[in-house]
Amino acid sequence: MDGIMGIRKVASHCSLVDGDDLDLARLLDKPKLNIERQRSFDDRSLSELSINIRAVDAFDSMYSPGGIRSGFDTPASSARNSFEPHPMVAEAWEALRRSLVYFRGQPVGTIAAVDHASEEVLNYDQVFVRDFVPSALAFLINGEPEIVKNFLLKTLLLQGWEKRVDRFKLGEGVMPASFKVLHDPLRKVDTIIADFGESAIGRVAPVDSGFWWIILLRAYTKSTGDLSLAETPECQKGMRLILALCLSEGFDTFPTLLCADGCSMIDRRMGIYGYPIEIQALFFMALRCALAMLKHDAEGKEFIERIVKRLHALSYHMRNYFWLDFQKLNVIYRYKTEEYSHTAVNKFNVIPDSIPEWVFDFMPTRGGYFIGNVSPARMDFRWFALGNCFAILSSLATPEQSMAIMDLIEARWDELVGEMPLKIAYPAIEGHEWRIVTGCDPKNTRWSYHNGGSWPVLLWMLTAACIKTGRPQIARRAIEVAETRLLKDGWPEYYDGTLGRYVGKQARKFQTWSIAGYLVAKMMLEDPSHLGMISLEEDKAMKPLMKRSSSWTC
Ligand code: GLC
Repeated sequence: MDGIMGIRKVASHCSLVDGDDLDLARLLDKPKLNIERQRSFDDRSLSELSINIRAVDAFDSMYSPGGIRSGFDTPASSARNSFEPHPMVAEAWEALRRSLVYFRGQPVGTIAAVDHASEEVLNYDQVFVRDFVPSALAFLINGEPEIVKNFLLKTLLLQGWEKRVDRFKLGEGVMPASFKVLHDPLRKVDTIIADFGESAIGRVAPVDSGFWWIILLRAYTKSTGDLSLAETPECQKGMRLILALCLSEGFDTFPTLLCADGCSMIDRRMGIYGYPIEIQALFFMALRCALAMLKHDAEGKEFIERIVKRLHALSYHMRNYFWLDFQKLNVIYRYKTEEYSHTAVNKFNVIPDSIPEWVFDFMPTRGGYFIGNVSPARMDFRWFALGNCFAILSSLATPEQSMAIMDLIEARWDELVGEMPLKIAYPAIEGHEWRIVTGCDPKNTRWSYHNGGSWPVLLWMLTAACIKTGRPQIARRAIEVAETRLLKDGWPEYYDGTLGRYVGKQARKFQTWSIAGYLVAKMMLEDPSHLGMISLEEDKAMKPLMKRSSSWTC
């Protein structure tokens, strides 16, 4: 621990210092708005833009990577601009601070939910890696990076633990799903317990945790300008261990990552085993973040080469086989089956009869999205919010595809946003299909929880995607919808119903990532320069491979 904390300043050997988008040195430039993108803003956005530019200027003049403020009580962001802060913002900050978890006097994370009314605590009293991400972004935006650094270092130490389920040892790089700090008031000692899947309901290891860790390390580096943390041998090794888990060669014929059901935010059986978009988008993002942070030393170089190859293959595969729009749907609808050899059009032998009825109505003429899963004879046509937002943020989606995703959200507003943003997945599975797919899960009944429930935490991802695509008005509309209910309802974990009108059946109240997600959405919209922390521009090097498919509309 001391070795990590006592970080020495090392010369930057980060990759891609030669003019690439991913160059960390450039990532750490003062935040600026992307002028290209602004040209696509509509009239309303243009008037907003002048406000945003003022906000950015204000931020620029305050920005000093070394001397971050640590005003632990004041939300600095609201002082930075001319907006009157919404009364919910102050309440949200207070609630977020109440969720802080301390280890030996230092804040190391935020608890999943501070719901005193709930009888069943389960593991909601733990710090979840994925849940901490919006908290971390809120603290970074507010100029409080210490807690994020503490969290990154603490989880890195946990990665080093030996992980077992019964007699089986898990891969070295696996990051915990969650950890808990135990305070012993008598002996005055704090200890930590962690869960890598061996205690989790269903016993699945969280594939997303390692990706979130890498993504957060880059967000910290980009936000603070402190390269030294990412450059420590410990962080470099942590990244390599995570990468070693997902870059290994085996029987795979696809560049996507093969996963068990329940290995991500959707941590129960929901038929997302195989190659879920939720994981592939985070995988892509984490690979690009790691590429920017890995050193070009002997060990780093090997991984850099493997990452570059994988990114090419992965973007090709995803952009071609996961992408669905009106034209592509029509092509699949007319697929021939049992084709053999390299000339096959229907490569995965998808039987057109397996296309669900709902997708024909759901698909707008303009718009498209990355479907849930693609594997032999199986396309999961469901829409997943996190995967699609992160496809935009990581530039896994081409600019045309990103626009099409936003078009779809606008065209299917009632279905995807309704009365509470945002549906985690659409549509719900019901009846016999629900029995088979979920194993009769009483928590995931139709239009509830992971099965078509609405999750306020997703608001920050939607907002970031809206800003990236130059369509902040969509985010503004969604935030206004959320503001009518969130505080009044006590920041629920999720909402139920086709429109998300009902507080979720078993939803926790004061769910931290609902609170932090709202704050991040608000602050990013107020000052879009923060987007860079969690977004990557398109990598030009990947472009030539990407031929525009004849099925793309825009
Ligand atoms: C539930 C969610 C999961 C989240 C956890 C803590 O298990 O499905 O995504 O991380 O609660 O909030």
